[in-house]
Amino acid sequence: MEATNTLSKIFDKNQLLTDPDSLAEYGKDWSNASLPNPLAIVFPESTEQVQSLVKLANQTPFNLVPSGGRTGLSGGAMASNQEVVVSFEKMNKILDFNPIDRTALCQAGVITQQLQQLAEDKNLYYPVDFASSGSSHIGGNIATNAGGIKVVRYGLTRNWVAGLKVVTGSGEILDLNHGLVKNATGYDFRQMFIGSEGTLGFITEATMQLTKLPVNLTVMVLGIRDVDAIMKTFQAFKDKMDPTALELFSRDSVAIVHEQKGIPKPFETDAPYYLLLEFENDAEATENLVLDTFEQCTNEGWVLDGVMSQNEQQARNLWRLREDISESISHYTPYKNDLAVKVSNIPAFLASLDELIAEHYPQFQVLWYGHIGDGNLHLNILKPADMDKDAFYEECGKVNPHIFQLVKDLDGSISAEHGVGLLKRDYLSYSRSEAEISCMRGLKTMFDPNGIMNPGKIFEVAG
Ligand code: MLT
Ligand code: ZN
Repeated sequence: MEATNTLSKIFDKNQLLTDPDSLAEYGKDWSNASLPNPLAIVFPESTEQVQSLVKLANQTPFNLVPSGGRTGLSGGAMASNQEVVVSFEKMNKILDFNPIDRTALCQAGVITQQLQQLAEDKNLYYPVDFASSGSSHIGGNIATNAGGIKVVRYGLTRNWVAGLKVVTGSGEILDLNHGLVKNATGYDFRQMFIGSEGTLGFITEATMQLTKLPVNLTVMVLGIRDVDAIMKTFQAFKDKMDPTALELFSRDSVAIVHEQKGIPKPFETDAPYYLLLEFENDAEATENLVLDTFEQCTNEGWVLDGVMSQNEQQARNLWRLREDISESISHYTPYKNDLAVKVSNIPAFLASLDELIAEHYPQFQVLWYGHIGDGNLHLNILKPADMDKDAFYEECGKVNPHIFQLVKDLDGSISAEHGVGLLKRDYLSYSRSEAEISCMRGLKTMFDPNGIMNPGKIFEVAG
């Protein structure tokens, strides 16, 4: 109560919510990893207002949880312990566009699609893309170093952040890198804040790099014979071209997208796996190369059938087979895992994962899809309709140590792109050494000495 009274010194009544519906809504993300129970929601409108809030939170004290589009899948934006949720919804403007540097200065609450649209209006391209780009915020994307479907060509969000303005946990405003391409003046703190999940400070503004528009993006969906053929087909195309996306999904994913969204199968021929390949169809020679590779893979028996988009609408429809999976399976309350290995380790990983799944999940439907071009697989276990959710999650959780040990043995990551948040924090040591975790804790203490910034995410709150 004391905290809400003091909040009203900084925020007017349009910037402060405490009603039960808003608390329930803003206190959670897509993970539903815990029960929402925040104290209040505030809507700052400037970096200075965020700074005043952080200073107040240190004095009072109370804890802060940042809130972007709340599309996270690891519980990074859950507020369950009377924290004040800081929504960046009102900081949603693109403040500047620089055509020479090809940069856009965005407030943290700019929606990904808003930036993509601005880029397109300027005949440029913001390449980080995923199914949630219509609601995710740039600030949240940076805080989680979001990946998505174009990483194979364009890399992660990190590659597109030319500058950052942040408010640290001790209430300092840091203006990091100033949009420079070159800047060899010591530690690049910008990189520390990217992927820090709001645990060091809050991003309030970002200078985002744009690039040239790709030409005539064309999509091909291929039906693949088996796991071995996935890698062979993948390699055949990678050797010949530089795709803008290379995605994998299974037969069951196609069936569920059809059931939930009415999207038809790409072709009649049945296939256990599908590869989606997107490329710039910029010359007749490129298209011929793609068609030749397709023929080669078909002759080898790796590819069972295929279809290629002939216009933008067809390309969009083919993308829906992949992009609609996540939302379609949410109907089945999936237990999600987001794993990565080096591309060269994918065959070994898939073979062992198959064995693990057969041994530990014989009773559940297992569905996988992912960004195979980046070595990133999403493993989803679907809940049987008649099973209680908590019991199901508990059962699935028991298998995590086996899966994560396999990931560790292959030097992989237990969270490729969804972040650590609450859901992966107890497993962090499968991917990061004790020495690394200790350095991470040290960094947290330096930027956030009182531990008020998104406490409990990435690490347990220090006891
Ligand atoms: C995806 O690739 O579709 C997203 O990471 C979301 C998900 O894994 O469900
Ligand atoms: Zn993904």
